Amino acid sequence: MKVLVTGANGLVGRVLVKALALAGHEVIATGKGPSRLGFEHNLLRWYDADITHPFQLRSIMEAEKPEVVIHGAAMTQVDECEQRQKEAHSLNVEATARLLLDAEEFSSYFIFLSTDFVFDGERGIYSEEDDVNPISWYGQTKVEAEAVVQTSTIPWAIVRTCLVYGAKPEGGRANLYSWIRESLEAGKAIKVVDDQWRTPTLVDDLVNGILLLVEKQKEGIWHLSGKDQLTPYRFALKLAGAYGLDSGLLEKVTADNFSQPGRRPLLTGFNIEKASMELGFAPRSIDESLEYLRQ
Ligand SMILES: NC(=O)c1ccc[n+]([C@@H]2O[C@H](COP(=O)([O-])OP(=O)(O)OC[C@H]3O[C@@H](n4cnc5c(N)ncnc54)[C@H](OP(=O)(O)O)[C@@H]3O)[C@@H](O)[C@H]2O)c1
Repeated sequence: MKVLVTGANGLVGRVLVKALALAGHEVIATGKGPSRLGFEHNLLRWYDADITHPFQLRSIMEAEKPEVVIHGAAMTQVDECEQRQKEAHSLNVEATARLLLDAEEFSSYFIFLSTDFVFDGERGIYSEEDDVNPISWYGQTKVEAEAVVQTSTIPWAIVRTCLVYGAKPEGGRANLYSWIRESLEAGKAIKVVDDQWRTPTLVDDLVNGILLLVEKQKEGIWHLSGKDQLTPYRFALKLAGAYGLDSGLLEKVTADNFSQPGRRPLLTGFNIEKASMELGFAPRSIDESLEYLRQ
């Protein structure tokens, strides 16, 4: 299948693009600026496209007419969204709406990447039917974009995921796993929160789930995350234990230790039963993921 991916230089995008090409899909990878994929394949083409530009993606869509669009590009940093609300809206909502219109013209299936931050975090282990109630601007923009996607005239899927981690890509931003591992390996003490519960998601597992959707072209909302619920501090303890690193460097703190512009939900994490039953989604446990990433 011909698949267009936005946000291809991102944490999820890089792994996704590679997996799609290796699975035999023709991949149109797009990102702002040059490719930082560090991966070449005869089924992969790179296009430089700023999704906030009204015509850049449209001309690519017109030229390539992908059968599937996977839209991952977004302003993803919660504090940045809070501080630059107009830009966050333009990127996360308006650009999504424009791309969806193009997809309605040239494609057949649209996958939108969303987040557990659409929920308020009062309860945790959310399923797809639960009511959204964002407490940050990031979450608000994703809720608005989800609403736009749900009005589409072509088949769509909304993939919500939660605290994604994995090996840090060359020149990429740190994630929970890479930050803790690098800090402990360098003998650096870090403060890690123990009052925000999540079901952390190994990026490779998320990508496997997205590939299942591409294959089965199922519609609706899908919760794709890891299966273990824990806090970043408990994740860090597991990592230290698995890799023989000094857990004494980990200081357990609560979120109110940090003054951050964007609020984070306390209790999230997903019920992934629907994806397990209907897609065959089977993420690793945290212990298996740490073993997988150890090298
Ligand atoms: N990571 C998580 O824990 C998590 C959790 C829940 C949901 N999600 C969702 O999953 C998706 C992928 O997340 P991620 O972790 O891969 O995020 P990421 O690493 O921040 O990737 C987002 C990508 O969007 C690109 N981008 C930003 N502005 C753009 C623009 N104007 N035009 C074109 N591209 C632009 C960025 O480009 P540059 O790299 O050049 O800046 C980046 O590569 C996002 O929609 C996010 O909301 C992620």
